[in-house]
Amino acid sequence: MPVPSVPSPPHDLLAVRVRDPYPYFAWLRRHAPAHPERRDGRPTVWQISRYDDVRALLTDGRLSKEPGRVPGYVPGPAGLNRHLVHADPPDHTRLRTLVNAAFVPRRIAQLGPFIAATASRLLDRTEQDTHVDVIASFAAPLTFRMICAILGVPEELDNAATRDTLMATIAPAPGVDPARMEGDLHALLDNLIAQKRAGGECSGVDLLGALVQASEDSGVMSEEELRSTAYLLLLVGHDTTMNLIGNGMLALLRNPGQTARLTGPQAGPGLVTTAVEELLRYDSPVRDATFRCAAEPISLHGQLIGEGDIVSLLIGSANRDEARFPHADRLDVGRTPNEHLAFGYGPHFCIGAALARLEGAVAFPLLLKHLGAVSLAKPADELPWRPARVMRGLAALPVMRN
Ligand code: HEM
Repeated sequence: MPVPSVPSPPHDLLAVRVRDPYPYFAWLRRHAPAHPERRDGRPTVWQISRYDDVRALLTDGRLSKEPGRVPGYVPGPAGLNRHLVHADPPDHTRLRTLVNAAFVPRRIAQLGPFIAATASRLLDRTEQDTHVDVIASFAAPLTFRMICAILGVPEELDNAATRDTLMATIAPAPGVDPARMEGDLHALLDNLIAQKRAGGECSGVDLLGALVQASEDSGVMSEEELRSTAYLLLLVGHDTTMNLIGNGMLALLRNPGQTARLTGPQAGPGLVTTAVEELLRYDSPVRDATFRCAAEPISLHGQLIGEGDIVSLLIGSANRDEARFPHADRLDVGRTPNEHLAFGYGPHFCIGAALARLEGAVAFPLLLKHLGAVSLAKPADELPWRPARVMRGLAALPVMRN
């Protein structure tokens, strides 16, 4: 049977897709729901854009999460790819069980007052400023503090330099030498793990201490898995929630009617809960699901995805699919039902979802209250988006008090 030809996306949509991927996603859903990006000498990457397909493929055993199946493909920094995001069962099950222990909802719920106190302290520092960068002053330090507390990262490593080292691994700043960046990252992890081995005092949940113990006592986790998992958790525990606050705040600034609902007299915890879900859907912090490849050929919409091809499940597109969400391009802080895929679906569903939801539910009301009436300090289409794979997030969100 002849394979149907694949139309090419219009250049103007491709040109702005870091800043605004949604017109491009709408084009894909309509014209090429299984769209191959073929690049010389590199594996084919299939872009899957419709809600039903993305959700079905998130649980499809024909897709593997092991990058080793794609010759020459290394998805992250060298020596740091042996973690649960890049594993199939039984390794995935073993690694996930070890990490999951720290994320039980009851334990996470206890962090509420700590999140609120940290958020208020950061916001108090901006009280006198007419201009505030919501990312640098609030979203970045708050979300990093939270994951550091859970992992048991010593206070002297909880700083902007550590954050920069981590973030450089997914969106290298111009002029940064990749070898130096990897060197810095390995030095950071060496230092962290050595401190845990030395058994220093730790006031938080200390997941990292528990993982170091697991690697030593029972050998249930190898040294490479330990280092990879520490790197993964530091990065995803921070970058994702930072993007939720940044993307969410931008969406609220651009939709004052919805902000008024959220800050008005009718607003209660119920509305805050649905608002966080809607902000997760509307501008999803994890734009594309993580690495997957076809372990066997898969036929979809008349196309044949070959064994070893990479399959990119576009969560940000699925969450704007009109076939699933009425008026999908409209922000509605009271939207119910809202079965978005912002945390994924199936066996790799986000381990940090309860923490992320709690951080959002605490952060947004405090942020809106402390900042008061603010507007964007730059036109929305001039805001700097980080050109990262997988994630969607702002490098800065400058606002000014009115
Ligand atoms: C708004 C914030 C967050 C969003 C939108 C988010 C989104 C996601 C998504 C979409 C996945 C599944 C990826 C896939 O199947 O390819 C995932 C997995 C994961 N998330 Fe999150 N996440 C968030 C916060 C967090 C936090 C705070 C942590 C805490 C450390 C975390 C830890 C993880 C881990 C460890 C996995 C891998 C699970 C597995 O492979 O079994 N996430 N997340």
